[in-house]
Amino acid sequence: MKILGIESSCDETAAAIVENGSRILSNVVVSQIDIHSAYGGVIPEIAARSHIEAIMPVINQSLSDARLTVTDLDAIAVTHTPGLVGSLLVGTLAARTIAILNNIPFYPTHHLKSHIYANWLSGNEPEFPLLAMVISGGHTQIIYMERHDDFHIIGTTRDDAIGEVFDKVAKILGLPYPGGPSIARAALNGNPNKYQLPIPQVDGLDFSFSGLKTAVLRAVQKDLGLPITTPSHELKAHLNAQQIADFAASFQATVVKITTLKLKAAARQYPAAKSIVFAGGVSANQLLREKLTQSFHHTHQVFFPEPKFSTDNGAMVASAAYYSIESGEKASDPYSLDISPRSIIS
Ligand code: KG4
Ligand code: ZN
Repeated sequence: MKILGIESSCDETAAAIVENGSRILSNVVVSQIDIHSAYGGVIPEIAARSHIEAIMPVINQSLSDARLTVTDLDAIAVTHTPGLVGSLLVGTLAARTIAILNNIPFYPTHHLKSHIYANWLSGNEPEFPLLAMVISGGHTQIIYMERHDDFHIIGTTRDDAIGEVFDKVAKILGLPYPGGPSIARAALNGNPNKYQLPIPQVDGLDFSFSGLKTAVLRAVQKDLGLPITTPSHELKAHLNAQQIADFAASFQATVVKITTLKLKAAARQYPAAKSIVFAGGVSANQLLREKLTQSFHHTHQVFFPEPKFSTDNGAMVASAAYYSIESGEKASDPYSLDISPRSIIS
C-alpha cells in the first residue's frame, strides 16, 4: 500500500511516499527556518504564505522522486491537527483537492501520532506494549500504547513544552532559532556542572518547564551581577562565549535529567512496557539520545527516529496512516474535513 503523507502544521512543508508503513519511496522537506530565524520564532502569517508557495512543488517532487503518478497512490494522509491554523489549512486543502479529483481514499492524521510512527520508518518494529515519549516544540507527553493506534496519555506538561523551553532559553542566551540545535551546538564547549538548575517537583508523570526557564534567566542575571528587573533581551549583550556554552550545557543536562526521572517513574508504573520510543523535534538531541539509551537499554528496547525523521516530515504521516488503516480506520470524507489548532491524541 503506497501512501502520500503531507505535513504543513508548523514551519516545514513536507510530502513523502511510504509503502506499507516503513519503506520510504520519497521524502521531501522544505524548511522555513531561515525565514523565521530572522524573527526569533515562527510567524504564523508568514508560515501560511510560505506553505502556499511550497506545497505543490513539494508534493510533485515527492511523486517524481518515487517515480510514481497520483494514480499509483492507494491513500493520501495529511496532518489536520494540532498546529497553526493557516499552516494546517494549506496542507489539508491540497490533500483534499488531490483526493477528490483522483478519487483516492483520504486519511486526516494527528500530528503527535505521526511523530510516534517516525519510529516505524527504516524497518524498525518496536514491540508492544510501549511507552512513547513525545518531545516537540509544542508538546511534552508520555503515552502508553498497548497496540497499534491505541494511545493513553499518562503524563503531560502543565505549562511550556520541552522544545519551547529550548527555544526560550536560546533566546535568553542570544542563540539563533530554533533553540534546540543552537543549544546543543553551544553546549559542546560548555561545562554541564557549572550551574545547578532546579529539577521541577511535579506530582506523578506530569512535567513543568516554565520554572526551569525562569531559573536560567535568574542564574544569568546573577552571574552577570545584574538586577532581576533586567529584561531578558538585554542579557545576551553581556554574556561571553564561555558563559553561553556553560549555561547551554547546564540547561541541556538538566532537561535530560528531568526526562530520565519521569521516564523511570513511568516505567515503574507500567512494568509491562517492552519498548520506549522517542518522538518529536527534541528527540534529535544527541545528549538525550546517548543518556536515555544508557539509562534504559538494559530493561527496554529503546528507539529513536533517524534525526531527519525526528523533526516534521511527511513520511511519519504516511506511516501513522498506514497503521491506522491496518487497525481498521475507515477513509474520511474529504469534503467535510475540519482542522483544529489544538487537540488531544486519541
Ligand atoms: O517536532 P518539531 O519539528 O515541531 C513540532 O511539532 O513542534 O519540533 C521542533 C522543536 C523546536 O522547539 C526545536 O528547538 C526542537 O524541536 N529541536 C531540538 C533539536 N532539534 C530540534 N531540541 C533539542 N535538541 C535538538 N537537536
Ligand atoms: Zn512536530
